[in-house]
Amino acid sequence: MDSSEAKEEVKKTADIVEVVGQYVELKKRGQNYVGLCPFHSERSPSFTVNQSKQIYHCFGCGRGGDVFTFWMEYHNLSFPQSLKDLAERYNIPLPTYRDSSDEKKKSELKEILFKINQLAGTYFHDVLLNRAEGGPGREYFSSRHIAQETISTFRLGFTANKWDGLVNYLKSKNIPLKRGEEAGLLVPKKGGDYYDRFRGRIMFPIFDLNHQIIGFGGRVLDDSLPKYINTPETPLYHKGSTLYGLDSAFKNIREAGLAILVEGYMDVLALRQNGISNVVATLGTALTSDQTRRLKGYTKNVVVLFDPDEAGREAALKSLPLFLNEGISAKVLVLPQDEDPDSFVTTHGPETLGKLLKEAKPIFDFYLDQALANMEPGVDGQVQILHEVLPVFLKVEDGATRFLYIHKFSEKTGINEGLIWKELRQWANKSSEKRNRDELKKRLSPGQDLRKHGSDEQFLNLLIHYPETVDTFRDQDWELIVFDPEVAKIIRVLTEKSHSGEDLNGVEQTLDSAAAKEQLRRILISKPFYTEESVSQAVSEFCKKIASVKISQSMKKASAEGNIEMVNRLIRAKQDLESKM
Ligand code: UTP
Ligand code: MN
Repeated sequence: MDSSEAKEEVKKTADIVEVVGQYVELKKRGQNYVGLCPFHSERSPSFTVNQSKQIYHCFGCGRGGDVFTFWMEYHNLSFPQSLKDLAERYNIPLPTYRDSSDEKKKSELKEILFKINQLAGTYFHDVLLNRAEGGPGREYFSSRHIAQETISTFRLGFTANKWDGLVNYLKSKNIPLKRGEEAGLLVPKKGGDYYDRFRGRIMFPIFDLNHQIIGFGGRVLDDSLPKYINTPETPLYHKGSTLYGLDSAFKNIREAGLAILVEGYMDVLALRQNGISNVVATLGTALTSDQTRRLKGYTKNVVVLFDPDEAGREAALKSLPLFLNEGISAKVLVLPQDEDPDSFVTTHGPETLGKLLKEAKPIFDFYLDQALANMEPGVDGQVQILHEVLPVFLKVEDGATRFLYIHKFSEKTGINEGLIWKELRQWANKSSEKRNRDELKKRLSPGQDLRKHGSDEQFLNLLIHYPETVDTFRDQDWELIVFDPEVAKIIRVLTEKSHSGEDLNGVEQTLDSAAAKEQLRRILISKPFYTEESVSQAVSEFCKKIASVKISQSMKKASAEGNIEMVNRLIRAKQDLESKM
């Protein structure tokens, strides 16, 4: 089997709804499945997957493609790697093939880095479990009440306080040390040698959703600083888009309909060990929109359980707009002072934590309480807080919720409720004015004649959903009625080849521009514009349109030549035609 055969085989076997559905919550709607787009921020679903055509398309951001495109974009992988992953998943044998392109080099590098991480993970785990020098690590975990099972589930490790532990291990496995540097595990010395980045630390491998190690965090055993060091940015590890523990938690999150968001490695371990398995960590940074988008594929309910210190509160506050942007209903649980999720669940047990989790307050209440606590007295304070809160109010989508919050806000600040509504409307108008202006600008910009575009789309929609109509236009000057060059590209392919009905996949592959591909997908995944009954009527309308443009052209020519008789004949013909249109 060669790789294009393997590709076809994967395409036939893999079900795009199943593959995408693992990462994005999909609901059936008509002939399609829809969900919240994992590639851009949105609150109502425009991400659409079509099972019979095996494609997806986001009407919000325009991204789309087939099962391979999804895999590549979602996991940030090259095509060969995606083919490999999907082929493995569906037990389809793959050829080993050579290709010297940049893409290939990049994916080879990633593959090597994965392998090195894998080796390093094994080494750290082995030091912890089996070697004499692992003693301090074993003691440390036991002092933190971490069980054997947790150690093996998370493949935790330890590395002794020396400069060449991993260096020697990688050497013994014939790994070029330069690659170890690229994986973020080794640091170069002057003179071409390398030393271990992680020394004398317990080690947390960080997995991607395919359970491969993309990086590590390492904690010291005492109070020295820095407490943690992490893999720097590498081709595999991007701090802001990783959620620690997601690989093993996402099924539980979906089942529970809730994700618990904590800050640290140790919090994830402790909660999991206490039977709470729908938990992931941001790894100390404020939540990012990449992380939020990942999460919303599994649930729209999140409890933020950060440390009850200034940094934790700050981070929780910063997450509010992110949750509002994605339509995630988030709550915040503030633990008693000097506790963190780890210490709390270890001393008080999962039942007590479970009870508190149920009492978590909506993040908006948390936000208001914080804002009010910092509010300056008097009118100045009122004005300031009102202007701070208004844009946030606007983001609250649900009318009833917004009403409730405004009521609460008024009660707590003493600002008249009517006044808040009035200000809010003004704000809303200001921003919709801007929207209108943008819309107008778009309309006025050249090449954006909406009427023409509408007709292009209808024509293309007809040809795609009723491929039997293509024949009629093959020998006509259809170019005369198509304005969008991208649409024209698609129609050219359609009319040049005889696609006898079904296989529109071939069309997408022949197209050379991304814009045309996107357009094609959008139409493929949209409903037919015409019904079976109106098809023939539509065909004849478009034929007349072509004829009408042709007449106009001839008219121009005739009048340029001074052929008045011809011009008159053409005018009559045109009137005749238009009366029938
Ligand atoms: P914490 O200080 O709360 O750590 O930082 P922790 O995980 O609860 O660990 P223990 O309980 O003190 O042992 C939360 C997270 O912030 C990141 C780590 O991911 C940590 O898990 N962090 C913290 C760093 O990356 N570097 C640091 O120096 C500190
Ligand atoms: Mn902690």
